[in-house]
Amino acid sequence: MTVCIRGAITAENTKEEILSATKELLTKIIRENAIELKDIISVFFTMTKDMDAVYPAVAARQIGIVHAALMCFDELEIKGSLTKCIRVAMTVNSELKQDEVTHVYMKGATVLRPDITQKKDAVAIDGPAGSGKSTLAKLLAAKMGYIYVDTGAMYRAFGLFCKNKGISIENVETSEKYLSETDIELGFKDGQTRVFLNGADVTDDIRTQEIAAYASAVAKLGFVREYLGNKQKAIANEKKVVMDGRDIGTNVIPNAKVKLYIDASEKVRADRRMKELEQKGIKGDFDTIYQEVVQRDKNDRERKINPLTVAKDAVVIDTSDMSAEKVLDEALKIIKENGLWK
Ligand code: DC
Repeated sequence: MTVCIRGAITAENTKEEILSATKELLTKIIRENAIELKDIISVFFTMTKDMDAVYPAVAARQIGIVHAALMCFDELEIKGSLTKCIRVAMTVNSELKQDEVTHVYMKGATVLRPDITQKKDAVAIDGPAGSGKSTLAKLLAAKMGYIYVDTGAMYRAFGLFCKNKGISIENVETSEKYLSETDIELGFKDGQTRVFLNGADVTDDIRTQEIAAYASAVAKLGFVREYLGNKQKAIANEKKVVMDGRDIGTNVIPNAKVKLYIDASEKVRADRRMKELEQKGIKGDFDTIYQEVVQRDKNDRERKINPLTVAKDAVVIDTSDMSAEKVLDEALKIIKENGLWK
């Protein structure tokens, strides 16, 4: 598909400075979006009116962008706007979707998009079911004094809502007409996320296999993801959070200071699930549980909207052979390296 990537950088008005800044900007856009030069269709450049030493497009030709159509324009002169700024809009053929591209703002131009350039004090944790992400998220939140936000619980609560309405798993999309009468809120108490469905605390009711299957089905629906995703974004804007789910680093908090992707082999995750059931006095069959794990991964990875993927800037931790304490140590090391916690 074709996507358009924006970028901007500031520079002094000399030929050398403009060419060097433009090369730096283009190179970073190309690297961060894994672009091959042959896939660049066009690049539009603007410069503010205080810049006239050279056409910035010259820098593009110098770094090997030879086939793309290039055009240079004046930027609008708006009162009080950023001075000495070079802006680009690059159109490319890419496997990325428009909401997956990385726009690049450098030097003084970072002020143009604080929503992208200012990193949030948050730990975004993604990974498949049973990878150990919620165990880690709870430990981290307690250690750092952050709030633990379990986003899966919100999908489960919507699943429970559908079940209560008598909607079958195969027909969950018919729940859209009830969206306006659904209120799902999270409460935070003693390091625990409590989930409220239309005012009732359903935290314990959503922990069944049946509701997990409902959750997996409703998590595919665009209107559900938008409704719950907006609520999750609002929480992350207000509070310092350790948030876990499937699309936290890629969609809910793309500018989180720390992104972790917690993984484990399918066998280990099925084993963990079986032990969890045993602790509840339920005897599970390993092969059935293993198949459930594989199926749930498939649903989460292959759905069209916000699928489970590793964010470009996430650190992957494979917990297959690690204790919970070891995973916590590893995560804290990464968090300290990123200056989020001392
Ligand atoms: O983590 P969990 O088992 O409680 O999640 C329940 C379901 O919700 C699971 O199938 C994946 C989905 N989910 C999601 O799609 N996006 C999230 N951010 C969190 C959970």
